[in-house]
Amino acid sequence: MAHANRTALVTGGARGLGTEICRQLADRGLRVLVAARKREAAEEVCRGIGPAAVPLALDVVSASSVTEAVREALGSFGTIDVLVNNAGVSIDASRTVLDLDEDTLRTTLDINLVGAWRLAEAVVPDMVRTGYGRVVNVTSSLGSLALMDSGRHPAYRVSKTALNALTRMLAAELSGTGVLVNAADPGWTRSGMGGPSAPRGPAEGADTPVWLATLPEGDETTGGLFAGRKPLQW
Ligand SMILES: NC(=O)c1ccc[n+]([C@@H]2O[C@H](COP(=O)([O-])OP(=O)(O)OC[C@H]3O[C@@H](n4cnc5c(N)ncnc54)[C@H](OP(=O)(O)O)[C@@H]3O)[C@@H](O)[C@H]2O)c1
Repeated sequence: MAHANRTALVTGGARGLGTEICRQLADRGLRVLVAARKREAAEEVCRGIGPAAVPLALDVVSASSVTEAVREALGSFGTIDVLVNNAGVSIDASRTVLDLDEDTLRTTLDINLVGAWRLAEAVVPDMVRTGYGRVVNVTSSLGSLALMDSGRHPAYRVSKTALNALTRMLAAELSGTGVLVNAADPGWTRSGMGGPSAPRGPAEGADTPVWLATLPEGDETTGGLFAGRKPLQW
């Protein structure tokens, strides 16, 4: 299989889209580190996926947790070839720009933006060393500046806009290294965050992130933002 011997790390892997991304990556032959704040939750997901899935305790807001998890993963498996920054929160759905407390703003940015940045800093240098890597930042169309037409979800939107900017800057910084960096919007998907009324199931929502995470050797797609495998407006 094309992806045999590749290892992927998926943050927020113990539920929602993260679990489905883990499952689809395992189906494509990758070893998958199911990263979650609670190791027991990750262990349960791994039992459901099978031997390709390995639990990893990781809280994206803790620098020491990220360092320790990446050290554990590299120590056990040698490389992390794919990083899916999927962990995220949306805790300001009914708020507006002028009605947002600073704690909510900071918490959202810390998880959705700084968490992804921490993981990139911890994982990408080793990808550069090996000359192969795929980084996928799970974003949202709510972060597209071109679609910024409402004040609702202000912290969430700004966090995803900034995650998109991080995607482009990191991709440019890594040009020519073999490490491809892209952002994927899963679309409105049934999950803890998406709720039960969303039109998409997790399998459809996970498709674009998994496609970008498994871009074949020699592919040069990087610095892009995609939904339904098609470019989305920044
Ligand atoms: N569902 C949608 O409609 C939709 C649309 C566009 C974009 N997205 C994006 O898709 C991604 C996944 O969302 P989802 O729908 O699957 O949401 P979800 O069901 O609410 O799951 C969120 C995940 O993020 C994890 N997480 C939160 N804080 C964390 C932290 N500090 N450290 C590590 N993990 C943390 C959660 O882990 P715990 O289990 O430990 O809480 C959980 O696994 C998010 O980035 C979201 O913004 C979702």
